[in-house]
Amino acid sequence: MKLFIDTGSVAEVEEIATWGVLAGATTNPSLLAAQSGDPGERIQRICEIVGGPVSAEVVAEDPETMITQGHALKALHDHVIVKVPFSAAGLAATRALADAEIGVNMTLVFSPSQALLAAEAGARYISCFMGRLDDVSIDSAQVLEGIVDALRPPGSPAPWIDDGALVLAASIRHPGHVVGAARLGCDVATVPGKVLRQMLGHPLTSSGIERFNSDWESSPSLGRWLDGLVAGTPAGAASR
Ligand code: E4P
Repeated sequence: MKLFIDTGSVAEVEEIATWGVLAGATTNPSLLAAQSGDPGERIQRICEIVGGPVSAEVVAEDPETMITQGHALKALHDHVIVKVPFSAAGLAATRALADAEIGVNMTLVFSPSQALLAAEAGARYISCFMGRLDDVSIDSAQVLEGIVDALRPPGSPAPWIDDGALVLAASIRHPGHVVGAARLGCDVATVPGKVLRQMLGHPLTSSGIERFNSDWESSPSLGRWLDGLVAGTPAGAASR
């Protein structure tokens, strides 16, 4: 499962992109509204940093305006994927944008039947919101399982290869959502920076590093040996 970052903040993308784990990003109107600065420039910068798909959302209720906004968003950067909210109008816009070879992320999908419609309309990504389902006491894992099963009956080709619809787990609230999405066979999870940072931490990792470091420092000859080893490499020589 690929990991996207769900944010409108360039600084957050810059920070987490250094980890080498991000394959893309998603924004939405709320996330963009929470930050200052030109939104178009921010979307372009995020596209450059992640070097992969970045969803930017249309805000209209009729297909014509959705399509026009979608073309304008796509013109910002080649990596832009146009995010379209689920509705009859959204399906029509998705079909038109997909026919124009513009990738669409159909968002606010909350059931397997909606996901089937989104896939038939040509959406490349289908975003199901885990947190918002759990908020209203609907088991998000069960819904996602239904979506994955409906879109991917046994024997169907891998969607990364055949350009089929990819299931994207969104509205992620904690690391358990990410692991659950992966285990259910989702193709992508878009994860807020806060949750990505939570995924880093484990008390046994921190205490393990502390113990390795203090054991190493208790034997200075080991440090001298490693410094010599590094100095003998081209990178070590160049850093002197
Ligand atoms: C998805 O692409 C959305 O931007 C996002 O995951 C919504 O999450 P929220 O429910 O935390 O607002």
